[in-house]
Amino acid sequence: MQIYIKKENIDQNIQNISDHLESNIVFDEPKKSHYLVYDSNGLSFIKDSKNPREILHINFLKGALGWRMKRAQHESNLKKALGKNNDQLTIFDATAGLLTDTMIFLSLGHKVIAVEQSKILFCLVSDAIFRAKKDIPELKNLDFINDNSINVYKKKHQQLDVIYLDPMYPITKKNIKKSGNINAITKILKLENLENNEDEFISSFMESNYKKIILKRPLKSKKNYSNINYQVIGKTTRFDIYL
Ligand SMILES: C[S@@+](CC[C@H](N)C(=O)[O-])C[C@H]1O[C@@H](n2cnc3c(N)ncnc32)[C@H](O)[C@@H]1O
Repeated sequence: MQIYIKKENIDQNIQNISDHLESNIVFDEPKKSHYLVYDSNGLSFIKDSKNPREILHINFLKGALGWRMKRAQHESNLKKALGKNNDQLTIFDATAGLLTDTMIFLSLGHKVIAVEQSKILFCLVSDAIFRAKKDIPELKNLDFINDNSINVYKKKHQQLDVIYLDPMYPITKKNIKKSGNINAITKILKLENLENNEDEFISSFMESNYKKIILKRPLKSKKNYSNINYQVIGKTTRFDIYL
């Protein structure tokens, strides 16, 4: 994957990203169908430069992500799923993605260990963290790791209060239209050969010695395990809680 830089000054941030991805930095726009671009806005993934739906750029300060964070106290379903608790929890987000849900947990005052398997998503999100950290002090409570969360979990499980799982939903025509981001994530995972078996993934956590698992599911999907303790039902998604 090439990284196209619009300005010629390579800073330490892009040097770190290029090292992590083992990618070349180029100064002429690549002719390839997908590449990364680094400019004054930070890092973006380009699938089709003529189609804004095919560009993935993460910003925790503006747009939908910024809006959700400001309204963290109103994210009543995620709050309900966490349960009444005045203590600071340590939450393990095993499917970090664009970090949207983790940012809500952080805004609610909790500590989060968030793990993302994709190198490209990890770099896009790390760059967004880099740009936002002086404005979002709660980011100091985040440990963001690029790995397979099943491996990380084995090392860290003793210190965790909650495991949060939000595996990719099956792509339907309806949700592709709804979220350009889901579309871009799916493409990135395909590029990196990271499409894995969702049932196996969920079982690795369900079969472990956990305190609490919150599993996010499409509203109408089948229950994965019958021992659900309670559910929090939203408009299009639900949280299945296992204690
Ligand atoms: C639906 S997205 C999660 C969205 C996320 N909750 C958010 O708020 O942005 C699922 C993510 O989980 C990641 N994932 C799936 N299996 C994983 C694993 N074994 N280890 C780490 N990340 C994984 C995928 O790469 C994908 O980015």
